[in-house]
Amino acid sequence: MPKGEVLCFSLGPTATGITDYLSANGWLVLRVCDDLTLRRLLSAKKVQVGLLLIEDISSVSFDSLQLSLGWARGVQRLEWVAVLPLAALDTPAGREFVLNSLYDHHTDAADFAALEFRLFNALRQANLRARVDGAEAFENGLGMVGHSDAILQLQNKIKKVALTQAPVLIGGESGSGKELAARAIHQCSSRADGPFVAVNCGAIAPALIQSELFGHERGAFTGAATTKIGLIEAASGGTLFLDEIADLPLELQTNLLRFLQERTIQRVGSNKCSTVNVRVIAASHVDLVSAVAAGRFREDLFYRLSVLPITVPSLRERQSDVLGLAQHFLNESVESSHHVQILGFSKHAVEAMMFHTWPGNVRELSNRVKRAVVMTDQRLISPEDLGLTLPVRPIGMELEAVRTLAERDAITLALVRVDSNVTHAARALGISRMTMYRLMDKHGLSLRRIQ
Ligand SMILES: Nc1ncnc2c1ncn2[C@@H]1O[C@H](COP(=O)(O)OP(=O)(O)OP(=O)(O)O)[C@@H](O)[C@H]1O
Ligand SMILES: [Mg+2]
Repeated sequence: MPKGEVLCFSLGPTATGITDYLSANGWLVLRVCDDLTLRRLLSAKKVQVGLLLIEDISSVSFDSLQLSLGWARGVQRLEWVAVLPLAALDTPAGREFVLNSLYDHHTDAADFAALEFRLFNALRQANLRARVDGAEAFENGLGMVGHSDAILQLQNKIKKVALTQAPVLIGGESGSGKELAARAIHQCSSRADGPFVAVNCGAIAPALIQSELFGHERGAFTGAATTKIGLIEAASGGTLFLDEIADLPLELQTNLLRFLQERTIQRVGSNKCSTVNVRVIAASHVDLVSAVAAGRFREDLFYRLSVLPITVPSLRERQSDVLGLAQHFLNESVESSHHVQILGFSKHAVEAMMFHTWPGNVRELSNRVKRAVVMTDQRLISPEDLGLTLPVRPIGMELEAVRTLAERDAITLALVRVDSNVTHAARALGISRMTMYRLMDKHGLSLRRIQ
């Protein structure tokens, strides 16, 4: 078992003494010598600690190094330790770099043992951070990206309903994240170790849905060659997610109601009832109240299902989440496509995204970003790559969108003015470094994108 894995990024010709020492002492050493290989490797592999080796500062640009490590941090949260000559600390750019980009630095290249000690500390820090991030992701409702009030309220509700066993009815426009919310409820609940079975009621042929949900006995009908367990039984001990519940035929609505009341099911062709322990979460993008009024949905079933109603807000109602989500999908796509030369979104693309009203919600945003990653030939994604047009500002923009844009502009400008020095930019804006990092995260800004 190795002590840890360390990514050695050496600039210029470097004596192999350090890496040989680390390998001989039980570290798994990955070596890269240029920015492109660094990006490729980090897009494909998880690493916790980076070791930057600089022998000669005369050939090093600390600004571009800061961008490279900023990029690395945008993809993964790794901790960097640098081995550099003492002279690096005599230059303002070198000091800035050490303070802003590194976990620790080491100036005595011959003292391998002391360096190893620093690497251990960095590894410990990275492990601790991974635990905090893991807890945050859980607290957050599992990968639910967003900081808007609307999404925070949703996450709050999810945590509350996860503590109960009652049915939940999730409403919200198409693509807004209803299934994600259902999964988050399951994951935060005491049933998290049990199965999560998602059924799209609209996608199963009406003739099959009864046996799909409730199962059937062998010989129950022509073609039923073997006994089959239904999806409700398959979700035993876990959660059954009934998506597009409005599409459930009326006859099946009656059977489902019986199941919700009695907690028992009867397979097709069987006269035996068996008890099943399943929590039901249903979702619909159509208004079920109108469906009830129109006689298309059973009123008693509606009340049974909607004990705990939740509405996932449309993306329009949380426009301030657009950039964070766009950045999230960009990171995901770049990671899977190895299209590492894409640095981010152009200023115009950001404006176009803030202006667009997202009728297809988060799914539309995800699809547009994925397509742009495939289509673009440039380092910054343009409005055209996203299939959007640039708005005429600010007419027609909602106040929240204007505010968000102004906030993003102020942060970008402050960073540009001080050569991406986060401490100085935060000071100029009169906010703390923590707030600055939070706002950069909210707006999907990382130092590599400020140029
Ligand atoms: N807050 C979020 N953070 C990250 N990804 C999200 C978020 N909300 C939605 N998504 C992603 O957007 C896509 C659409 O979400 P989901 O399938 O949950 O929507 P839906 O409301 O069930 O859509 P539909 O009505 O079309 O079934 C999924 O890929 C999901 O992972
Ligand atoms: Mg869905």
